[in-house]
Amino acid sequence: MYRTSYHHDLTSDTERMAGFYEAITENAKGTVYDIGAGSGILSRWAAPYADFVYSIEINPKVAENTRSHLESFKNIEVICADARNTNFPKEADLVICEMLDTALIDEEEVPVLNSILENLKPDGKIIPYGVINCVEPVSTDIEYIFYDDLYDTPISQAQSLDHDQRSKFNQKYHVIGELLSYHKIDFKEELFKKGKIKENVDFKLDLRINKTGTVSGVKLTTFTLLTPKLICGPTPMMNPPLIIPTNSVKVEKNDTVQLNFSYTMGGGLESVESSIKRIP
Ligand SMILES: C[S@@+](CC[C@H](N)C(=O)[O-])C[C@H]1O[C@@H](n2cnc3c(N)ncnc32)[C@H](O)[C@@H]1O
Repeated sequence: MYRTSYHHDLTSDTERMAGFYEAITENAKGTVYDIGAGSGILSRWAAPYADFVYSIEINPKVAENTRSHLESFKNIEVICADARNTNFPKEADLVICEMLDTALIDEEEVPVLNSILENLKPDGKIIPYGVINCVEPVSTDIEYIFYDDLYDTPISQAQSLDHDQRSKFNQKYHVIGELLSYHKIDFKEELFKKGKIKENVDFKLDLRINKTGTVSGVKLTTFTLLTPKLICGPTPMMNPPLIIPTNSVKVEKNDTVQLNFSYTMGGGLESVESSIKRIP
């Protein structure tokens, strides 16, 4: 049924699917936009609760497929367009936008949400509601940015391991410090209060070391708030943890290191810059 392995894997990720199902069926009403519709599964769940669903998909081949999956719904229109430059016909009661990537770096979630401000009713909702980004110091020999592949493949095995088991099994890096939550974003609050979600992120963070060794990278973990009360941890197809190499610094237990890092949300992994120094 799903013509790309990517959309097949997305719809096979049961934790991701269960979270979106709950959030959508509890919040869909009136006019709904499903931005980045892909297989059309999220539009399909919204349709029974909504007056009308606009499903926006940028890729013409994928949009053809979206249309074929949704043709039996009289209250769904599939629009093949780039959501950043689309004039939406009505103000939305709910915007669903699943263009998530770890720390929102490599997909266009934030630029797309920044372009929809005028199309959301003041009491309208966004799914996901926001994200919480966390960072941990790690030791790794790998010199390029990589995703934690225990979340990657194979999807059936990855789903049977919990967060701690995945970290223990992974030989590509070792966590050697405490987890720090460094950035919480409430999408609607930032859009309405500041007019825009700030795309450039720049942090100076103190990270506490709990094992003697060498810090040579950091691990980013994103937790997704699908609604204010429904949090979804990393899943195989939604925000698998990202390991970012830094310079190497020898450390001892109870040391603190300072991380300087910056990136652009929606700017791609090539926008990431990171460095570590030991605080005397
Ligand atoms: C992570 S997939 C989500 C698919 C589906 N909503 C789901 O949850 O299974 C993101 C989709 O957004 C589409 N997309 C990416 N950038 C877009 C843009 N600027 N405007 C509209 N669609 C976009 C991609 O082609 C892809 O199908």
